[in-house]
Amino acid sequence: MKNKIITIDGPAGSGKERIAKFISKKWNFFHLDSGILYRRISYIILKKNINFKDSNQIKDLIKKIKSISPRNNRKLRNEKISKLASKIATIKEIREFININQKIIVKNELKKRGCVIDGRDIGSVVFKKANIKMYVSVNAKIRAKRRHKQLIDIGEKSIYAKILKDIKLRDKKDKTRKNSPLVIPRDSYVIDNSDTFLNTLKQINLVMKKI
Ligand code: CDP
Repeated sequence: MKNKIITIDGPAGSGKERIAKFISKKWNFFHLDSGILYRRISYIILKKNINFKDSNQIKDLIKKIKSISPRNNRKLRNEKISKLASKIATIKEIREFININQKIIVKNELKKRGCVIDGRDIGSVVFKKANIKMYVSVNAKIRAKRRHKQLIDIGEKSIYAKILKDIKLRDKKDKTRKNSPLVIPRDSYVIDNSDTFLNTLKQINLVMKKI
């Protein structure tokens, strides 16, 4: 599986991460969650009180950051960061910077093992030549229910109706933005993750036979 790239794209809360983690564990792939990189930049923007609408401030920030860590952290997963991440993900300079970082991380890991990367534009833009492309599809209500439960479980406050509204808003932002909108890559396998995870795993196992 060395040198192999698998991309998993899909909307907010579709379960891309869980699928990527499963593949990473079962077939010993390095897992890169590209959303973390957007979240980490959002965290820095909030912390440094940067006005993300000011392109000079953004350019300045990018110049100062040498590389961004793909490591997950609980502080990156709250709804404030989620919202800001989907806003700054529309900025061309930020996407370009994150894409360069993703390619460096993946290039290094490929020397040792395959890579599975999840996000919104991974199969359509960042790794167009991936060996396998997946797109995870789940309707917004199911995603909102799951996200609501996740937040409650980690001790965050959550109101279902608000989560659903935010998810729909993020879908709209992701799908209609000018730079790298969320699309189903032409040559991808669509995975339906609305039912049980066991059902999803059956689909994944079938797709993985093609690698
Ligand atoms: O976990 P969830 O799917 O809610 O979000 P995430 O994957 O952590 O990504 C956070 C935000 O970053 C998303 O709302 C997207 O707008 C943006 N993103 C993106 O534009 N492109 C990617 N490859 C990954 C994330």
